Amino acid sequence: MRRFVAGLTAFLFALPLAVRAQDSLKRGADIAANGVGDAVPACSGCHMQNGIADGSGAFPRLAGQSAWYMSRQFADYASGARTSALMGPIAKALSAADGAAVAAYYANAEGPFVFNKRADAMLVERGRQLARTGDQAKQLPACNNCHGPGGIGEFPAIPYLAGQYADYVALQLQMWKSGARKDSAEGMADIAKRLSEQDMAAVAAYYQQLREASAQAAK
Ligand code: HEC
Ligand code: HEC
Repeated sequence: MRRFVAGLTAFLFALPLAVRAQDSLKRGADIAANGVGDAVPACSGCHMQNGIADGSGAFPRLAGQSAWYMSRQFADYASGARTSALMGPIAKALSAADGAAVAAYYANAEGPFVFNKRADAMLVERGRQLARTGDQAKQLPACNNCHGPGGIGEFPAIPYLAGQYADYVALQLQMWKSGARKDSAEGMADIAKRLSEQDMAAVAAYYQQLREASAQAAK
């Protein structure tokens, strides 16, 4: 009986939390589909409702990315630590509660990995080296040291790279190298400065095809 009461009490305490989480996901789905008023456009216009974007690589994949990481990016876009003509105004207009709701929604979203370009095998091989072992001559640690085995991310602060679009990944590395992306100044900026253009293309190509390979194998 004591156990039953304890269990029931725990259940009753958890219930409002679960309901709130559900409400927040619903709110997030609504923002993704419709935006908020005039200031926040529908995220789905660029990232799609399931968060896989359009496959062009111009827009990052959000599906399954950590909500904590995404909420932080909104703060960085709003402060200008990350510069984006598209995301800057959106992040400024998004309230903290709506940002958290839409981040939670996309963190829970799932969608296929669809790519329209095949990468050169030599490039992918160089990328694999950088991702898994790094490059001692350039004092580069393996990316996976931080981004997790297979680039699946290190929850919650470090985003996944596996299956992220190569063009987007390469662009972010270029932005860190040039100083246009100012968050993670000591971490990613320092790493990007050691990477050549070719290295960036290689590691970006490697990460994109990781999920493509597993999607092929699953067929
Ligand atoms: C008009 C197109 C467009 C719309 C609409 C849009 N985004 Fe974006 N989003 C982008 C682009 C482009 C980037 C990459 C910008 C950069 O290089 O930093 C981006 C980046 C992001 C990132 C960073 C991802 C990462 O891996 O660091 C998040 C999170 C994000 N958007 C969420 C949203 C949410 C939530 C909405 C809706 C409220 C939204 N976006 C609406 C174009 C858009
Ligand atoms: C010392 C740890 C560390 C190492 C090593 C590291 N990263 Fe990162 N990386 C991070 C952190 C932390 C972030 C999140 C930064 C932020 O919050 O904006 C990040 C973010 C990124 C992003 C942004 C993803 C997005 O969705 O916008 C890319 C791309 C990236 N890293 C690529 C790499 C590559 C390629 C390597 C190897 C050459 C690498 N990283 C090595 C810690 C690391």
